[in-house]
Amino acid sequence: MPSMIRAMAALLLLALPTAAQLPEPDRAPGLMAHGGPIRALATSGAGIASGGLDQSVIFWSPEGRPVAVTRWHQGAVEAITVIPGAGWASAGEDTRIAIWPASGAATPDMVLEGHQGPVLALSSDGTTIASGGFDGTVRIWDGSGPPQVHTGHRGAISALLHTAQGVLSGGHDGTLRQWPDGKLLAEFGLGITALAALDADHIALATVDGAVRILGPQGREFATAPRPVVALSAHGNLLAAASIGGDVGIWDWRAGRLLRTLQGPGLPVWSAGFAPDGTLWTGGADRQIRRWNATTGRPLSESAAVAQAIPEGLDPHGARVFRACQACHALTPGAPPMAGPHLHQIFGRRMGSVAGYAYSPRLAQGDITWTAETVADLFTRGPDVVTPGTRMPMQTVGNAEDMAALLRFLQAATR
Ligand code: HEC
Repeated sequence: MPSMIRAMAALLLLALPTAAQLPEPDRAPGLMAHGGPIRALATSGAGIASGGLDQSVIFWSPEGRPVAVTRWHQGAVEAITVIPGAGWASAGEDTRIAIWPASGAATPDMVLEGHQGPVLALSSDGTTIASGGFDGTVRIWDGSGPPQVHTGHRGAISALLHTAQGVLSGGHDGTLRQWPDGKLLAEFGLGITALAALDADHIALATVDGAVRILGPQGREFATAPRPVVALSAHGNLLAAASIGGDVGIWDWRAGRLLRTLQGPGLPVWSAGFAPDGTLWTGGADRQIRRWNATTGRPLSESAAVAQAIPEGLDPHGARVFRACQACHALTPGAPPMAGPHLHQIFGRRMGSVAGYAYSPRLAQGDITWTAETVADLFTRGPDVVTPGTRMPMQTVGNAEDMAALLRFLQAATR
């Protein structure tokens, strides 16, 4: 990609824009579903897939309804990509790459093995999947037989991107390379944290100092927050740059202008992705998936499915605690399918007994009857301790008052 080399030579460094930040959005709660920080998410017309430190991958409908949860990975999930026209790939600490159908599933369709360390980055164009991570190799898989294994980076691979010219890789060594031949396209002297496709001629690249560069014929550079940018995603002229500081800058990348800053809870935002309809999804350390209208800056998190799940007039403290559950559990039997079984008449119900719901083998054993005591135990010691092997993400309810309120709420709402 010689045009990119030329662009590198002509980089302009724009002054930090002074566009005022929008007034703080009213903080609609996000879709709480992960049991730990969310490290990766990907978007497609089929919905979104998110993965986190709790080892789970959650598949969401385009409206924000979790439709499947899997705890298949045996370590933190660090990377997820859409496989255009096919489904999703996820990978992380356990070094394995799982291939999932577009609709999500409890177990993967295919598993790609061979990396010698945690996988940090994935990319796909629908024909091949590229993977990279701590072992420093870029692997390109076509689904039949062993991958091409490429070496050249000194250190971990942290970002990958399919382009018409080949697969680009960015590493902790600060180099941008193009495969299959491994050509050195650029060197930054600072770790590369994210890559995103913009249009046929341009890509965006972030480095650990918080700078975002647009590479291509009209290359430019903007300094974002003085904090590492860890995720990039583009939709038309809009480029979202999510930072460890917890905010997401929305840039007009052609003009090099900051349009607005989406403010979450001030925690690291590790992942961001535009859906085809232009809504932006983010996930981070607060364990919430948030949806935003990137053009107005308005948070859209409260999806209709989630809002309707909480009846009015019940224990308000308990209803607040139930927010940690509502993304995955309906309170009534007739609700559309969600990631977890409905909780109607949960007290007195045998574990694993909702007809038609595909439980994990552990819950299907049915050896627990749900009562105030056993539900309290489940969320005091945690589902991973009480029912090891369950697909419900690791989570606990913090204190006795919250627990009592949750039980009061459930008692009234599930009758
Ligand atoms: C990310 C989605 C998710 C969240 C959040 C979640 N659950 Fe679950 N829950 C599940 C899944 C999936 C199952 C079924 C697990 C299996 O089959 O291993 C489940 C199972 C259960 C069961 C057993 C139901 C049965 O039929 O045996 C109870 C009770 C339960 N959850 C309560 C809660 C409560 C209370 C909260 C909030 C504190 C909560 N869950 C949060 C996904 C979730």
